[in-house]
Amino acid sequence: MSELTAEDADLYQQAQAAVEFAYVPYSHFAVGAALRTADGEVITGANVENASYGMTMCAERNAVFAAVAAGKRRFDAIAVYADAESVPPCGACRQVMSEFAPSLRVIFRRGGQPVVMTLDELLPEQFKL
Ligand code: THU
Repeated sequence: MSELTAEDADLYQQAQAAVEFAYVPYSHFAVGAALRTADGEVITGANVENASYGMTMCAERNAVFAAVAAGKRRFDAIAVYADAESVPPCGACRQVMSEFAPSLRVIFRRGGQPVVMTLDELLPEQFKL
């Protein structure tokens, strides 16, 4: 775990702003994500739920998939925000992020405060083909 930079703090704020677009009629747990590409662009995501619960997509994966679908595959950092004590990215999102950025900086809330860890700390022994 290391200190947040000013860029990390800015990305975390953008993740918080992205919560506005979460579609969460079932869990009422709104999550926002902000992904910084290697060329400095920020792409946001929010969780989108479905009446068939398993179709729900997390904020982080929505941000990664939107970026990749727009031709971006190199990422420096992602921030995740929800109004809860601790909101680390789920295991499925860690695996998806590792496809593109094995050492991504991940900013998330822990004990009410933003912290930063690298993806290889959060997901050791990453599965690759
Ligand atoms: N969720 C995310 O968007 N990101 C996470 O890292 C964890 C969970 C969403 C999925 C679901 O819409 C809601 O939070 C409750 O699980």
